[in-house]
Amino acid sequence: LSTTEVDISKIEPGQAIKSTFRKQPLFVRNLTPKEIAEADAVPVSSLRDPQTLEERTKVGKKNWLITLGVCTHLGCVPLGAGEGENKGPFGGYFCPCHGSAYDTAGRIRQGPAPSNLHVPDYAFTSDTVVTVG
Ligand code: FES
Repeated sequence: LSTTEVDISKIEPGQAIKSTFRKQPLFVRNLTPKEIAEADAVPVSSLRDPQTLEERTKVGKKNWLITLGVCTHLGCVPLGAGEGENKGPFGGYFCPCHGSAYDTAGRIRQGPAPSNLHVPDYAFTSDTVVTVG
């Protein structure tokens, strides 16, 4: 199966970009300290799909949230990656199809989606390149 290399050097804190991985949308997000704190402040037991931000990111790279851009409800592409896009009420991503809202860790917080945005296998192959797959 193919891998995808993403250059993350130009992604500023607070910014998310859309790439593609195996023909699916891929979101790469550089979280701000505030966004990290917001994710960490949520009691994990209150979540529909309980996961910490740590579990969804790499050690020492907690600011890099890498997920598929595919809503876990029926597969629409959520908004929130790209300038001026609606991040929704929990500050992460928002799916306009049926109103699923994801938080700054890409976790489902509201709406019909059953689970968090999927985190694919990936590795940092340098300080500025992430290889997904
Ligand atoms: Fe996203 Fe239904 S496909 S809320």
